[in-house]
Amino acid sequence: MDSEHAARPLEGRHILLGITGSIAAYKAAVLCRLLKTAGADVRVMMTPLSKQFITPLTLATLSKNPILVEFFDPENGAWNSHVALGEWADCYLIAPATANTLAKMAAGIADNLLLTTYLSARCRVVVAPAMDLDMYAHHATQQNLRRLAEQGVGIVEPQEGELASGLTGKGRMAEPHQIVAFVEEMLAEKKKTLAGKHLIVTAGATIEQIDPVRFISNHSSGKMGYAIAAELALRGARVTLVSGRTALPTPAGVERVDVLSAEEMYRAAAAAFEEADGGVMCAAVADYTPVEVSPTKLKKSEGEMTVTLRRTHDIAAELGARKGKRLLVGFALETDQEADNAEAKLIRKHFDFIVLNSLRDPGAGFRGDTNKVTLIDRRGHEELPLMNKRDVAVRIVERIERFFER
Ligand code: CTP
Repeated sequence: MDSEHAARPLEGRHILLGITGSIAAYKAAVLCRLLKTAGADVRVMMTPLSKQFITPLTLATLSKNPILVEFFDPENGAWNSHVALGEWADCYLIAPATANTLAKMAAGIADNLLLTTYLSARCRVVVAPAMDLDMYAHHATQQNLRRLAEQGVGIVEPQEGELASGLTGKGRMAEPHQIVAFVEEMLAEKKKTLAGKHLIVTAGATIEQIDPVRFISNHSSGKMGYAIAAELALRGARVTLVSGRTALPTPAGVERVDVLSAEEMYRAAAAAFEEADGGVMCAAVADYTPVEVSPTKLKKSEGEMTVTLRRTHDIAAELGARKGKRLLVGFALETDQEADNAEAKLIRKHFDFIVLNSLRDPGAGFRGDTNKVTLIDRRGHEELPLMNKRDVAVRIVERIERFFER
């Protein structure tokens, strides 16, 4: 990549920037400017309410294009074709996206130009939600976001912080530079280096039922495995994602098999592995499950209570034993003697390489969006800095590419 292209990663790209009625609309000016600096041709579309937060004049000046609000220009009757705009754009970025606009998008309501354009757009769509913390956390909003994500809409997660309401929590629109980075990454052409390969990824936590109400599980969010599945699919692989319970949307182009217990995960992973070229064992699988599952809710009584557990299948070890020359990548989450324990697992489970997370590293591990890992194979260790889980996934998938190049 030449340096000019690196400096202007959106050169020649057409970005349609949709702005809706949130106080975060004031950040749209910076966003528009950054998109232009990155080389994009920007057209701006606003909902009528958003004009109360930021003036069309500001955005017309920054984008160097007239602003579109209505279906036709009231002055001269010129028609703003939502179909043509959707076709023109490489990416339709709606930032800020209010709860109201997200709900209408999810429901297919088209009562303004911005929404009509969404329904007719064939390009990639990205939303950057902005709203108060309770609106963001509300079941309806979360359901709408999930539905949009399942339809392939990219979501730039809002951030925690002080909100316009004075409250503090999650709902603040991501910063303009983060939104631009998201769009850049999405539009970056990935070479289909893994075309023709079929990989399985296990992700998330398993759930071992004790009775109809209680279960044994762990804190795994599934984010790391989902990021890997997404990255593999972007590079052309066929991906079967065997997933424990998580709230995450299925990444675009990935086949997802939902499971609950370690036993179910074992069966689904083993069946998919038969025909696969390799696997990435990212799930946090319960090592033990109750010997008996009570069909009715267990009642408390005086004294101690014992639940007898038995071992589950070690999915990774069993696939490792039958993998032959196929790829198998493992994960290790350790609290002490990290490297030694990870190396022992690498050998014992026949992994080609293992990704070590240390719970001691701040920012690494279960719930967050960042991770700090060391990649270990039989030749040595590669310690990566603290990174976004998506970037960690890129590094892991680059190693997988090298495996298949051999
Ligand atoms: N793993 C698996 N099935 C299990 C347990 C673990 O597939 N029943 C996989 C994990 O997905 C991960 C790797 O094995 O890739 C390491 O898991 P971990 O639980 O850390 O290893 P264990 O073998 O359980 O070792 P220990 O409990 O001694 O730490």
